Amino acid sequence: SVPYVAYKVKDISLAAWGRKEIELAEAEMPGLMSLREEYKDEQPLKGARIAGCLHMTIQTAVLIETLKALGADVTWSSCNIFSTQDQAAAAIAEAGIPVYAWKGMNEEEFEWCIEQTLFFGEDRKPLNMILDDGGDLTNMVLDQYPELVDGINGLSEETTTGVHRLYERVKNGTLPMPAININDSVTKSKFDNKYGCRESAVDAVRRATDIMLAGKRVVVCGYGDVGKGTAASFKGAGSIVTVTEIDPICALQAAMDGFEVKKFKNVVANADIVITTTGNKDIVVGEHFEAMKDKTIVCNIGHFDNEIDVTWLNEKHGNTKVEIKPQVDKYTIDGKDIILLAEGRLVNLGCATGHPSFVMSNSFTNQTLAQIELWKNIDKYENDVYMLPKHLDEKVARLHLAKIGVELEELSTDQAEYIGVTVEGPFKPEYYRY
Ligand code: NAI
Repeated sequence: SVPYVAYKVKDISLAAWGRKEIELAEAEMPGLMSLREEYKDEQPLKGARIAGCLHMTIQTAVLIETLKALGADVTWSSCNIFSTQDQAAAAIAEAGIPVYAWKGMNEEEFEWCIEQTLFFGEDRKPLNMILDDGGDLTNMVLDQYPELVDGINGLSEETTTGVHRLYERVKNGTLPMPAININDSVTKSKFDNKYGCRESAVDAVRRATDIMLAGKRVVVCGYGDVGKGTAASFKGAGSIVTVTEIDPICALQAAMDGFEVKKFKNVVANADIVITTTGNKDIVVGEHFEAMKDKTIVCNIGHFDNEIDVTWLNEKHGNTKVEIKPQVDKYTIDGKDIILLAEGRLVNLGCATGHPSFVMSNSFTNQTLAQIELWKNIDKYENDVYMLPKHLDEKVARLHLAKIGVELEELSTDQAEYIGVTVEGPFKPEYYRY
């Protein structure tokens, strides 16, 4: 077990500010707020001890307090060293919830924070549920605390990269508990990854650099869900956007959406801004940095920092590094400056405040439903990766319509029969791609 520390945040006196922002966010998160209403009597998470590892933002604070409102005990850490909003962490600590998160921690502190969340209260009861984003908490439990596995019902995983790790474990026979893939709910990846990045990608570069985006040449590496949102974000700002891809389907999509699609090495020298969205490694490496022009801005919006070879930059040109401000660094290569944002870590949470509340309400409503499902109906699940059923995906969307004034048509029984669905849905077959 780990010695008891009630919480650790940057500055508890930020709690009042955090609380005011949480209250504003609640109004933008109708999915979470309606789950609080729906389940306030039933308390479906009673007895659950959920350890969460997900960017400690204002939006996440609303998720945490929803899990609490449904009866759970919760401990929290952030899944990135730069993504915590210190006022959000302070408000959560002040509400008596054990949170271990501050913006700008080092790697060692990052591990320490996750470790604190494994045991609850002064009597050190171990966690019995995992809520993860990227798999670092999951890996810590499975690799360093295997003795805790038997006591854990299951885990829910937020992002593409974390889900990828889980399917690898299934393939290798090393997933010891049921898992729910949140990312591939339609109301997650087709909204958060896409429309979320459409807002937060440009927001990050603006806050970090104040650069005029209109007319600038931007290269977006990868055209999956995050790439689609990111490319749209810069296009909307008036930038001239080029996409790189390895997948012919995504490359063709980018072309049909009006983007030039080129090999990175052929466009890097002319780029003003390069942003990686691939979830893959070694996208921007030494030879690319050497080819860049003066003052190129380089950043990553994928989950891990290995998309950009920051190690090369530091080893070869670390002596030229100048911090312009936190999360904005200048390196000089052969007389040309490179501006690196958030040390290559996900830029929208490192240099801005992540996605807006409304889109995160969709993601986190899926998270909450998954936690309820794994806590209450664990007997239905084997040690495999599952998705939430389509009727719940549709429910998540439905909970977000009224807030933005959406009117839905309703099927007549005759029409429903004609297209082979029921009046209440689900409205699409499993193979439909949205
Ligand atoms: P995805 O799998 O839909 O898209 C990644 C795309 O990159 C694919 O189309 C793939 O073909 C392409 N790609 C792979 N290697 C490439 C290469 N060498 N060059 C060019 N393209 C390449 O994944 P998704 O959902 O778009 O997520 C991407 C990353 O962003 C993941 O790490 C995910 O966890 C993370 N993420 C970040 C968010 C944020 O707010 N910053 C939000 C959601 C996801």
